[in-house]
Amino acid sequence: GSTRFYEFKVNTMKVTKLCHTRDIVTVNGLYPGPVVYAQEDDRVIVKVINEAQTNVTIHWHGIRQRLSCWSDGPSYITQCPIQPGQSFTYEFTMYQQKGTFFWHAHVSWLRGTVYGAIVVYPKTGVPYPFPYPYEEHTLIFGEYWDMDVVKLEKAVLASGGGPPPADAFIINGHPGPIYNCSTNDFYQINVVPGKTYLLRLINAALNMEQFFSISNHKMTIVEADAEYTKPQLVDHIMLGPGQTYNVLVKADQPIAKYEMALGPYMSAQNATFQNISSIGYFHYSGAAINSLTQQALLPQFNNNQIVSSNLNGLRSLNVTNLPLEIDTNLFFTIGLNIQNCNRQNPNKTCQGPNGGIFAASMNNVSFVKPTISLLQAYYNMINGLYTSDFPGVPLKIYDFVNGAPNNIPNNTNSLIGTKVHVLEYGSKVQLILQDTGTVSTENHPIHLHGFSFHLVGSGSGNYNPATAQLNLVDPPYINTIGVPVGGWAAIRFIADNPGVWFMHCHLEVHMSWGLAMAFIVKNGVGPFETLPHPPADLPRC
Ligand code: C2O
Repeated sequence: GSTRFYEFKVNTMKVTKLCHTRDIVTVNGLYPGPVVYAQEDDRVIVKVINEAQTNVTIHWHGIRQRLSCWSDGPSYITQCPIQPGQSFTYEFTMYQQKGTFFWHAHVSWLRGTVYGAIVVYPKTGVPYPFPYPYEEHTLIFGEYWDMDVVKLEKAVLASGGGPPPADAFIINGHPGPIYNCSTNDFYQINVVPGKTYLLRLINAALNMEQFFSISNHKMTIVEADAEYTKPQLVDHIMLGPGQTYNVLVKADQPIAKYEMALGPYMSAQNATFQNISSIGYFHYSGAAINSLTQQALLPQFNNNQIVSSNLNGLRSLNVTNLPLEIDTNLFFTIGLNIQNCNRQNPNKTCQGPNGGIFAASMNNVSFVKPTISLLQAYYNMINGLYTSDFPGVPLKIYDFVNGAPNNIPNNTNSLIGTKVHVLEYGSKVQLILQDTGTVSTENHPIHLHGFSFHLVGSGSGNYNPATAQLNLVDPPYINTIGVPVGGWAAIRFIADNPGVWFMHCHLEVHMSWGLAMAFIVKNGVGPFETLPHPPADLPRC
């Protein structure tokens, strides 16, 4: 491959949306930020210069960072933040990876505005496994906040409650003509009748899972999280934050102007979120500018059925590295719960992170970030910053049937701590993710850094190894799994990438509440199994 060099200047810029002008932090004066283009196996070098007033790090979401853990980007996990006036150069290889990814800030809630697409083409001469589209378009979905997202995080955490709904949903930064002062602020794809388009869909929203539809058009899913899938024809698609899909859409309908729409998916009842959406257009050439628009129909915000049928239909096109035999069985509960506290004065005495009423946890451990990155602490053997006792099975399960918990107890009162789970190099891991939330039960998009994993099964209720149907033939190979509401997902991966790898819910507020943990994958014996030394410009805390 060749080397691609990018320079990211992180800075504030003024944007005017929804009747207000305000400063947002973004990259190179673009919002969304610049697209990183590369080809499979290319080396990518991005110098990030922090000219903003706030700390920053950049994560390359979905890039497996083979032997380049130092460039992964989550703050206090693999690096200290890049402070104002400082810079850091990320370097990694798109090793055996191609497709649609994105990059985003990974410190506080800054990714609310600091994000952009990554498009990686196959090697020269290697075709797509489907007929060539006439054109490609990248659609990155976000939430727009008419306030500073770092302040938003502080306000939400101080409130002890959940986040307010975003002020708008946006497609490539555009809310569509459905808000105050946004009449002309929409994203439009101009299409030629009869042609087929490849849409690269990315959900970069902070806290909202979203349905996407195009009126009167079906979409064929051909890629999920930057790995090819067998074609799946759908009317709607749901993307949790952190998920990417490539879909083919044929302009095979009568010449007209069709809506593309984005709307919330929330399995839990929550009326305040129901009214946000974004509208764009799929505009046929030849359709009159003011021709009647065909409205897009989005599913009901709580339609779990569509989500699970999409997920069940997802199949890898080619299967590689799927471990059929397992040597490491892990079982993690994930959930939200209400912490012990004095309800009269919850902000002062609750035991959730930041003294809040809610905690989110994995195996009843609510993750707290350390003060120096875990990777630096691990590499330099600095004691006292974390403990290696993150449990491989839940601490509070009393009753096992056939190796799986029966009657998983309510996930009450988490421990708060910085715990990691250590994996030997080359471990063949199966991990069951079991939703046990006791409040606001919802689908959690769990994202693993450093790997893609094979989704070998998922279902509702409690995982039961006696009855669970596992797909060991063509499971999808993804990096973010929306664990079904009140249900489970089974994932497999081979731990062959040394380093410290974060795993967390990609709903930002849940991560702040502690729905996260980290794996340490130890070195193997060979030079291609060993974590390299840290780069000289690695930021200091
Ligand atoms: Cu896209 Cu740790 O995140």
